[in-house]
Amino acid sequence: MQRGHRSATAEFSAVLRAIHMVLDPEPSIFVDRVAQSLLKLDRQALETALQGHLATAVQYGDPQYAVQVAASLRMFTVIRSRFTKDAFFESSLEQIVLLGAGLDLSLASETDIPVFAVDHPDTSRWTRSLFADAGAQADNNLHFVEMDFAEGPNLLLATLVEHGFQRGKPAFFVWLGVQPYLTIEHVLETAHIVGSCPAGTQLATDFLTPDTSWSGIGARAGKLLQDSPHRELEPFKSYSDPAELKKQLLACGYTTARSVEAEEADALYCRERTDGLSYPNCAAMILAKV
Ligand SMILES: C[S@@+](CC[C@H](N)C(=O)[O-])C[C@H]1O[C@@H](n2cnc3c(N)ncnc32)[C@H](O)[C@@H]1O
Repeated sequence: MQRGHRSATAEFSAVLRAIHMVLDPEPSIFVDRVAQSLLKLDRQALETALQGHLATAVQYGDPQYAVQVAASLRMFTVIRSRFTKDAFFESSLEQIVLLGAGLDLSLASETDIPVFAVDHPDTSRWTRSLFADAGAQADNNLHFVEMDFAEGPNLLLATLVEHGFQRGKPAFFVWLGVQPYLTIEHVLETAHIVGSCPAGTQLATDFLTPDTSWSGIGARAGKLLQDSPHRELEPFKSYSDPAELKKQLLACGYTTARSVEAEEADALYCRERTDGLSYPNCAAMILAKV
C-alpha cells in the first residue's frame, strides 16, 4: 500500500461478494449487505462488473473457462468470509479484531460484541467516508482503528487498547486478503503479536499459495490476480505454502493451526451446488488457536 492511496482491492473484494449474493444462484455462501449498500451497488452495476470480470478472464485460457475463472475469484473472497464467520460463531469469544478490514464489516451487525476494524489509514478514512456519503450509521459496536502494518505491527495491541480492546481477554482475529500485501517478515511479526494474546485467542486468515503449486482454473485465476492493474499500487509481496505457514504459526505462540485448501473448501461449501462454483488452488485458509 502506498501513502495517499486507499485500497482498491478492498473495493474489488466487496464487489465480488456482492456479485455472488445477487447474481449467483441461491443459496448464497456468504451474505454481505454492508458493502453492497455502502458502495451503492445495484443489479445493473453488478452485472456490468461481472461482464468486466468475464472479459478479463477470457484472456487467461479458452473462452469456455472464463466463467469458471471469474467464479473462482468470487469464491476466493466469499468462502474465506464464510469460513471465518462459521469459525467465529463456533467460538465463544467476546471481541473481534478485523486486520485489514476493508469493507468486510458485516460481522459487526451480526453480533453485539466489540468489533475493531483495523486498516491502513487511507483505507480506513475512505471506509468512514462511505458511511457518511450513504447517510448510514456504522454499528455502535464497530470501532475504526488506523494502522499501517508495514510500519511495524508492534504497536497493534497498544493501539487497539486505546480504542477499548481488552488486552487480558482472548479475541477472534480476522485477517483476510491482507497477507499477500505484506512481506513474510511482517506477516510473521503480526502473527506473533496475535499469538501473544491470551489462551483461547483465534486467528482466521487466508493467503496465496506459491505459484509453482497452482493448476487448472486456480492457476488461471492466480495469474489474473498477479497481472491485475491493482498490483501497481498494491503489489504482492508474499506467498505461503500451507504446511510451512502452519509450522511458522506454531512457532509464533499458537497451539493448533488447521489449514483448509481448495479441495476441502469445495467439500465444505460447494458440494451441494450445481453451478460449478469452486475455490481456487492459488489460495488457502488457516484457523490458528493460541
Ligand atoms: C484485498 S483487501 C481485503 C479487505 C477485506 N479484508 C476483505 O476481505 O474484503 C486488502 C486490505 O488490506 C489492507 N492493507 C494492505 N496493506 C496494509 C498495510 N500495510 N497496513 C494496513 N492495512 C493494509 C488494505 O487497506 C485493504 O483493506
